[in-house]
Amino acid sequence: MREKLEQLAKAMTDELAGVKTLAELQSFEVEKLGRKSEFNALLKGLGGLSPEDRKTVGMAANRLKQEVQAAFDAKKAELESTSAGALADAERIDVTVPGIRPPQGHLHLTSQAISEITAIFRRIGFSRVRHPEVDWDWYAFESLNMPGDHPARDEWETFFVDAPNDPKKGKMVLTPHTSNGQVREMEKRKLPIRMINIAKCYRRQIDVSHVPMFHQFEGLLIDRHVSVTHLKGVLDHFAREFFGPDRVTRLRPFHFRFTEPSFEVDISCGICGGTGKLEGGAKCRLCKEGWLELGGAGMVHPNVLKAGKIDPEEWGGFAFGWGVERTMAMKSGVRIDDIRVLYKSDFRFLKQF
Ligand code: PHE
Repeated sequence: MREKLEQLAKAMTDELAGVKTLAELQSFEVEKLGRKSEFNALLKGLGGLSPEDRKTVGMAANRLKQEVQAAFDAKKAELESTSAGALADAERIDVTVPGIRPPQGHLHLTSQAISEITAIFRRIGFSRVRHPEVDWDWYAFESLNMPGDHPARDEWETFFVDAPNDPKKGKMVLTPHTSNGQVREMEKRKLPIRMINIAKCYRRQIDVSHVPMFHQFEGLLIDRHVSVTHLKGVLDHFAREFFGPDRVTRLRPFHFRFTEPSFEVDISCGICGGTGKLEGGAKCRLCKEGWLELGGAGMVHPNVLKAGKIDPEEWGGFAFGWGVERTMAMKSGVRIDDIRVLYKSDFRFLKQF
């Protein structure tokens, strides 16, 4: 019996030496070391031996069992450490490899232009303000010296909101220009005023140079002793800062109901340098005779000051209103053939800026 036990123990240690995975080791444990193992079955036979033999064989059996157990434990430790090593190898992170940059978005072209415009005017003391983009007829037209039946209103191609009229302020409209902010700003009753109102505007128009929703920036300055030269200085400051140091503006006589005198503001063309001609004498295809039309401006009409409860004998000022998209499209380096592409959310276009 002792011999048998020794043979069995040797066979088991040999088998253990050949075990390669933790799974194999686990089934070895169940089959060869468990209660139903051959070794255990043999041990049960000890009872049938003489007390002498039982003692010596029993001691030998214990020793053998301990030896096998030790071999088993050693194997287990070995397999566990190599599998942990394999895992560590597979999941190793090389911290010296250069990273992969996640794609990063940026502000929309229009938002970028709005920030730039705001900063340019802030440097000369204008504060950005916000006024409603859905407003009463009174602020959009009537208070701006445009009575209800006046034909000049047609130019603003207005969207009317299907809402109850206000007994004093009339119909509700989607603001067709930022000039509604003029009298609203005057109502704050803080003088002097130096505001820049940038907001969404809406008009019933859509083609390569018009979108029904667009943005304007409206400058308004109210103070004592203000003249056209101040207006011209502010506009030239903007032109130089936004378009470049060699750009200038010119004022052309025009007509708005809410300014007197009124002007259209042009900026010298950045392509032909204001000459209207390219090198070699060809006509510049971007501008009309060296100038690009930017927007409207003028000296605030006394009736508008009165609507804002400001005394026109003491106070005066100027206002101007330009389209953000249009101004942006005229900046050299940004070429937009069809302005509608700005709001089509096409990444191929937007990513470029
Ligand atoms: N509101 C005018 C427009 O939309 C522009 C303008 C603003 C003109 C202020 C004069 C003064 O065309």
